[in-house]
Amino acid sequence: MTDTVLPAPYAQPGDAIGILGGGQLGRMLALAAARLGLDVHIFAPESDCPASRTARKTFIAPYTDREALKEFAASVKVATLEFENIPPEALDIVEAAGTRVRPDARALAISQDRLAEKSFFREIGIEPAPFARIDAAHQIQPALDQLGGAGILKTRFSGYDGKGQIRLSGVVSPDAAFAEMQGGRAVLEALIDFDCEISVILARGADGDIRTWDCPRNVHQGGILRRSTFPANLPSELLERAQSMGRRLAAELDYVGVLALELFVTRDGSLLANEFAPRVHNSGHWTEDACLTGQFEQHIRAVCGWPLGDTRRHSDGEMLNLLGAEAHSWPDHLRDGAKINLYGKRRAAEGRKMGHVVRLAERS
Ligand SMILES: Nc1ncnc2c1ncn2[C@@H]1O[C@H](COP(=O)(O)OP(=O)(O)OP(=O)(O)O)[C@@H](O)[C@H]1O
Ligand SMILES: [Mg+2]
Repeated sequence: MTDTVLPAPYAQPGDAIGILGGGQLGRMLALAAARLGLDVHIFAPESDCPASRTARKTFIAPYTDREALKEFAASVKVATLEFENIPPEALDIVEAAGTRVRPDARALAISQDRLAEKSFFREIGIEPAPFARIDAAHQIQPALDQLGGAGILKTRFSGYDGKGQIRLSGVVSPDAAFAEMQGGRAVLEALIDFDCEISVILARGADGDIRTWDCPRNVHQGGILRRSTFPANLPSELLERAQSMGRRLAAELDYVGVLALELFVTRDGSLLANEFAPRVHNSGHWTEDACLTGQFEQHIRAVCGWPLGDTRRHSDGEMLNLLGAEAHSWPDHLRDGAKINLYGKRRAAEGRKMGHVVRLAERS
């Protein structure tokens, strides 16, 4: 619990709030905001994006358009983001125009640079997967040897859904691998032979109050989240350790909003941090259906400076992403009793997140 008090709310029902980013996360945030009596203004470079179709207004401009950002800022009481590759300077412009943005530019900037992120984890006593900084191709082989001969080379900036990553083992062709790294800056991570992956999804309010959800167990395929299962069915001691890592991260960042920390559970029961996301998270979509308060509503509450809701889980179950053409099977999911959520994307490109289904079972 917290010993501080909530500030005056940043927005009241009836006000407009802003979301930077136009994807499915913005769409689901906008739907949650609507239930709380708020209007949503989206800022995104693309027209006709998933979020804009559930919002009152969309500002269509690049994230570098200062005038458009100022206009957006003037139109809302508080702003947030749904996409972690927004330039932190865009947040600075909105703040300078007098509109608070939560989470703030610092948390965003740390999460955007895998090197800064891992260094920050270490500074605050959270162990990341072993890694080496790579600024030139010739550094790759010695680093790989030192990390045990198998690793993943990851671009430092702007990767998502496993993009900008190359698996390496043994003797490698460093020039070809390095050429794939955007901007010539990368980190090499040891390949972790994990038992499973989990994530900590939590919210921190404007008063420092932190509420966590039960950790889901996550399965990725080809770098993309496939399925999240809840509960994770792991020892409670391990799950408590995971949650305290998440709490420490949120407190050290003085974070406001929903945050996700992705963790590897090693075969000896240690927890290694993979990365964090300064936003609502795909592995938390099920909270909407299986908990008293879901991540989208909670995020809106936090960024508006409102009290946080109860995160207790009332059901077991799983969330499955619908990728690419899988979304065409939506009638089957309507028939089989799953809860379905479609993002309204016009094109079902391969691997693209088109929607998700949640199957619930009685809590064991
Ligand atoms: N060091 C590692 N060892 C073993 N597996 C890994 C490692 N790094 C990544 N992976 C696997 O690849 C997945 C995606 O990696 P990562 O989270 O770095 O990618 P991303 O592009 O940021 O994806 P997203 O934004 O969707 O989380 C991980 O969840 C994990 O399954
Ligand atoms: Mg990830």
